[in-house]
Amino acid sequence: METKIWDVQAHPEQREAYITEAAEVLRRGGLVAFPTETVYGLGGDALDPQAASAIYAAKGRPSDNPLIVHIADREAITRIVKEIPAYAKVLMDRFWPGPLTLIFVKSDCVPAATTGGRETVAVRLPISQTARALIRRSGGFIAAPSANLSGSPSPTTGAHVIRDLSGRIDGILCGEDCEIGLESTIIDCTGQVPEILRPGWIDREQVETVLAQVQEDSGTAAQTGEARAPGMKYRHYAPQGSFYLLHGEEEAVITEMSRLAGERAAAGEAVGLLVCTEDMKKLGELLQSGRPIRPGQKQAADIELVELGHRSRPQEIARGLYKALRRMDELHRSYILAPTFEESGLGIAIMNRLRKAAGGRIIDCPSGLDKVGNGNETI
Ligand code: TXA
Ligand code: MG
Repeated sequence: METKIWDVQAHPEQREAYITEAAEVLRRGGLVAFPTETVYGLGGDALDPQAASAIYAAKGRPSDNPLIVHIADREAITRIVKEIPAYAKVLMDRFWPGPLTLIFVKSDCVPAATTGGRETVAVRLPISQTARALIRRSGGFIAAPSANLSGSPSPTTGAHVIRDLSGRIDGILCGEDCEIGLESTIIDCTGQVPEILRPGWIDREQVETVLAQVQEDSGTAAQTGEARAPGMKYRHYAPQGSFYLLHGEEEAVITEMSRLAGERAAAGEAVGLLVCTEDMKKLGELLQSGRPIRPGQKQAADIELVELGHRSRPQEIARGLYKALRRMDELHRSYILAPTFEESGLGIAIMNRLRKAAGGRIIDCPSGLDKVGNGNETI
């Protein structure tokens, strides 16, 4: 299949024409990827079971994993859900449009193909004007998972989508890079009390500023296979190489990162290190000093550093995280290390994605006198 690229960034003067053309393709049952403020979405008409099924095929996604229905105006929601509890209206007032997906009991017009056979439907009203113009012109209800191949990191630029999906879908609307960089927070609104199923930009504390009671899905928190948002149970967001997280005090992590990198590179691995801006200099020095040229050693160790952004600015880490993970694949890294982050605020969502990308593999880095040389791997 030939994939049409509408490059709004290169041709801003064509923006309206491109969005209209892309919307026409969606109206005819085709698939179009588009930008949102979180990640790029792979859109199809949410009320057309064939379009929904085609989304699963294009992504290589298991069909029991439901899709999020995107709307452009708040009023549209009444057509696709049965009832909206009072607390959900509070959430919409405060956070819509925005990076928040809400789950309700679905109305009959939403096909089972869109909801993975469930009686509930996930709904999101994005901020992105490009997304909303496209949704409005295409009929108002666009089912869209993240526009990556199933399992790989979500796309945050048009180039990421082109790499994953060209040849598999009808078109790609290449617009702005994603401002937030992580998928929306998901809250289940079908019970007495709202329940966070997927952490995101909007964190529990923010929700608690408007609601007295909110729960968190323990499956999500503990990273078991029982998460209530089915998508959370799959290995996800992952680069191709073996990926480990290093946990401990900053200094201990950097030291262990340098040691492991040297060891693995000497064993012939293409090593990739994801590094916070604050640690770039120190790590560079450690790598230099830990790499004496041995007799007969011809080649420098194959270690690449990719900067993650400032640890002190979690928004920067979130925005660049998937790009950095994808960079590891572009550089063909076979052994990859990254630090852990403090799990508060946005750090909870960052760590949720990193844990999944690493398949839960975390190496403890003891500091000071506790140091025993090798890191203990905990699964
Ligand atoms: O930010 C986002 O949410 C992006 C952009 C494109 O809007 N979309 C996105 O979609 O991340 P996706 O398909 O990659 O993730 C949707 C998640 C999955 O974990 C899925 O299992 C869950 O939402 N989900 C969707 N409908 C659900 C439902 N009815 N009940 C429980 N979980 C649901
Ligand atoms: Mg996804």
